[in-house]
Amino acid sequence: MNIDAEARIKALRDELHTHNHRYYAENKPSINDYQFDLLLKELEQLEAAHPEYADTNSPTKRVGGDITERFAKVKHRYPMLSLSNTYNIDEIRDWEVRVKKGTDKKIQYVCELKYDGVAIGITYVKGELLRAVTRGDGETGEDVTANIKTIRSVPLQLRGNDYPDDFEIRGEVFLPLAKFAEMNVQRLEDGDEPYMNPRNTASGTLKLQDSSTVASRSLDCFLYGIYGERLPAHTHYGNMQAAAKWGFKVPSNLNRQIELCSSIEEIENFIAYWDEARCKLPFDIDGVVIKVNDYEAQRELGFTAKSPRWATAYKFKAQQVSTLLEKVVYQIGRTGAITPVANLKPVLLAGTVVKRASLHNADQIAKLDLREGDTVFVEKGGEIIPKVIAVDISKRSSGSTPLVYATNCNECGTLLERNEGEAQHYCPNAAGCPPQIKGRLEHFISRKAMNIDGLGAETIAQLYDEGLIANAADIYDLTKEQLLPLDRLAEKSVNNLLAGVLASKAIPFERVLYALGIRHVGETIARKLARYFGSIDALQVAGLDELTGIEDIGEAIAVSVHQFFADEQNLGIIERLKAHGLQFQTARTAALQDGPLSGKTFVISGVFQNFERDDLKLLVETKGGKVAGSVSGKTDYLVAGENMGPSKRKKAEDMGVTIIDEARFTAMINQA
Ligand code: IVH
Repeated sequence: MNIDAEARIKALRDELHTHNHRYYAENKPSINDYQFDLLLKELEQLEAAHPEYADTNSPTKRVGGDITERFAKVKHRYPMLSLSNTYNIDEIRDWEVRVKKGTDKKIQYVCELKYDGVAIGITYVKGELLRAVTRGDGETGEDVTANIKTIRSVPLQLRGNDYPDDFEIRGEVFLPLAKFAEMNVQRLEDGDEPYMNPRNTASGTLKLQDSSTVASRSLDCFLYGIYGERLPAHTHYGNMQAAAKWGFKVPSNLNRQIELCSSIEEIENFIAYWDEARCKLPFDIDGVVIKVNDYEAQRELGFTAKSPRWATAYKFKAQQVSTLLEKVVYQIGRTGAITPVANLKPVLLAGTVVKRASLHNADQIAKLDLREGDTVFVEKGGEIIPKVIAVDISKRSSGSTPLVYATNCNECGTLLERNEGEAQHYCPNAAGCPPQIKGRLEHFISRKAMNIDGLGAETIAQLYDEGLIANAADIYDLTKEQLLPLDRLAEKSVNNLLAGVLASKAIPFERVLYALGIRHVGETIARKLARYFGSIDALQVAGLDELTGIEDIGEAIAVSVHQFFADEQNLGIIERLKAHGLQFQTARTAALQDGPLSGKTFVISGVFQNFERDDLKLLVETKGGKVAGSVSGKTDYLVAGENMGPSKRKKAEDMGVTIIDEARFTAMINQA
């Protein structure tokens, strides 16, 4: 019996260490929280029954632990403990009975949501944000102040005057679901693997070195605990209300995100409400936290080694349903990346009808041993697209055969490839695979890239099918004569389209670089590369070492950039785009050189037909000129748009400044 226990303890420890590593270090968990907690619980129970096998390094002995080398370490003034938790309502009832026994006082409870994010402790001194520290191992965390300051709901300066001089407030940083979904759509488009879930993404984001990237991720934060001396109230609830007045984002009782309860019935009611209502929240929660309200009662109850006795958590199981897997289909992105998708028999899950689920990659399919015709369990975590998590083997028909992953591209027939160490298959036929070509063109004209008005996905497909465009440079060769005879393209739409193409020439370099659609080079990376190198000529000749030396640029990005510029066809397209006058250097680089407009000062006023005013300003700077806000003796040209104020025109005339319209300005730039 004991030999069995010892062996089981060892096996559980090994397994949990592996899962911890996969979760924290690799960001690729292979089991869900529920499965993890079951294993951990089993180990805890075995260790309690067999103290002779104790080990200080057992996975049960640590709170968490994801400390890296990159941020300053800070020791917590108050250790950051975790909460006992359970998936079983009976254990909540037992806990409530124990609480009542542990104190003579009449107990009130505060029920809150258990936000599924990353714990943070923020210290305020004299009303100002001093420091924000992650949990780390519970004793020591990492100073991520700069990143926390990017969160708009975290006040930098408190309101009112009744806050303590020096206190810490703790809460949970999380990524709203909509932002997470948006990021993953973009990642798939950029040829990157989608992020696993909002919590890991929030955690990864907090650990980024570059706060401007953090800011672009729109993290948010709910606060749920105050630590310090001379707090205004002697109850948790009272202090949370005070914190709200100081400007903190704390859970509100108006939408039941926090509730005072006086009995187990009220607690159960709160749990039942949120088990149902959680799918409508714009962020993930993984349960409900129940805390004893009164601080004095909390002190009487005290702590175990790892968690307070005065609080506990009830965790929700992920929402799951089973349904029929009808077919596995393959989607091809603009970068050639293949995403397998499960077509499911429609089924209701967490309030929405689910018809498709992502399958990530071939490994995932093999690991699940998925077969068409299987009954599968589908789970909805933070993702908008749910995932298939297991097969119901008991329902498998005897005749079913293992799924054979696609070997060839279903669009162009090319043999698929898979790079060493990467999970996804690719269709390498970038130049000849229609969905890739159309995808690249669509990306090129998209809003965040070249933003070409008057040209949408349908027109792109039409022009491609007509043989008029096959790459980005072809767009700039389009003529009115070619376009007018086409279906659905009347004179007005053609003019609109050509004006949009013309205006796109003013789009700044960082967006042009993004528009080129280099694999793994999303908006942020494009901006970073553009600012670092200043021009495409400098980027093109950068070595792998130089690229990976840049903050947040890893091996995969560097290799992809390198490969892109090693391709003759890409270089040809860039040369043609340059000849058409697109921006291939930043305004700063231009300012350092002699440009065709250098020494000339422009004032830009009014509304323009083909350009945004800011784009025009940038264009002047890119060509070496200067832009001033108002007409003066130093002004060379006033670029006059529609609705320009008459006084400006008069002043320019009086001072002898040359006044030019949009057409003349465009001609001047193109000549230059
Ligand atoms: S109170 C001493 N309240 O859950 C306990 N924690 O395992 C302090 N969490 O580390 C935590 N929502 O990251 C508390 N309303 C809430 C919470 C919450 C989420 C997280 C927090 C903590 C973990 C406990």
